[in-house]
Amino acid sequence: MTSAAAETEVQPLLEVDNVSKTFDIKLGLKRATVYAVGGVSISVQPSSTLGIVGESGCGKSTLARLILGLYPADRGEIRFAGQPLPRRGKRPRAVVEQMQMVFQDPYSALNPRASIGQSIAFPLQVQGMDRAEIRDRVARVLHDVGLHGNYATHYPHQLSGGQRQRVNIARALAMAPRLVVLDEAVSALDKSIQAQILNLLEDLQRAYQLTYIFISHDLNVVEYMSNRVAVMYLGQVVETCAADELYQRPLHPYSQGLLASIPTLDGASTEPTRVTGEMPSPLNPPSGCRFRTRCPFATDTCATHVPVLAEAEPGHLVACHLYPSSQPTTTPTTTQGE
Ligand SMILES: Nc1ncnc2c1ncn2[C@@H]1O[C@H](COP(=O)(O)OP(=O)(O)OP(=O)(O)O)[C@@H](O)[C@H]1O
Ligand SMILES: [Mg+2]
Repeated sequence: MTSAAAETEVQPLLEVDNVSKTFDIKLGLKRATVYAVGGVSISVQPSSTLGIVGESGCGKSTLARLILGLYPADRGEIRFAGQPLPRRGKRPRAVVEQMQMVFQDPYSALNPRASIGQSIAFPLQVQGMDRAEIRDRVARVLHDVGLHGNYATHYPHQLSGGQRQRVNIARALAMAPRLVVLDEAVSALDKSIQAQILNLLEDLQRAYQLTYIFISHDLNVVEYMSNRVAVMYLGQVVETCAADELYQRPLHPYSQGLLASIPTLDGASTEPTRVTGEMPSPLNPPSGCRFRTRCPFATDTCATHVPVLAEAEPGHLVACHLYPSSQPTTTPTTTQGE
């Protein structure tokens, strides 16, 4: 997906600046800290799509929830259209409405006892919109997501998975959002249905000038959808650049390994750069570079110095000691974002 806005320097719609989030959990009788998101910075241009990829547990959904204000951040700042948002507590209503999220499971996101029309109308009623306007809005968004107006009287169990996800998209759209965060929004769907929903999302982006954050563990789908991509590893962004650039020339050893693990049509694999081993526990992330325990190029420096996410090439940011731009100016030994 490409858009002119994505290529030019305009005010980003969303800026996430050095945001961190930990969770305190109980492990038996002990308390422990999960370092879910550690010092993440990303920005998204209006009418463009930022893809976010990374293994399960790397913090994608936590980052999404921080962006939506569903979790308070421990540190850092989030700005929407240049406006800094409070780190905790209530956000301005207009901002809440302009940021919508579509989740993975299209069924659990809908109230089974509410008709489709009621589900879409409810947040509009809360807004205080009048009944005639709500009726028109519901009809319009159902049409825009490719569902006949009759579906307003249907219930979620009467719909297929793909239709239910269309309803979830319609519900987000009804709020007239500027930013839509799609967290594994097509992951639960069959391939053919997935393609239809991806095409729908593209059409809606053009029609409504939407900005997307598209989260998925499916690298092919992210490449198809995104203008830029951020690669996350253990709560941090390790590389971010234009989507085609990432897929042609990944710079970070983790991105290289991740992309090498995409199955090819002929079943051939590119074994030498594959990432092996388990992701370390976010309860105890490695010092220095968090990827060093699985990195084939790791040196002593990687254990003691946190690499800085910085421009290795124009528009191509990477956090890895293989690149001079990532050398820290100070010499901290703690993990980034703690
Ligand atoms: N509410 C929570 N309480 C405690 N730990 C949490 C909570 N939410 C997430 N975590 C932990 O934070 C880390 C990041 O989780 P997150 O769900 O953000 O990852 P993810 O990248 O979205 O994974 P997946 O691809 O499986 O959806 C994980 O270790 C997870 O167990
Ligand atoms: Mg997730």
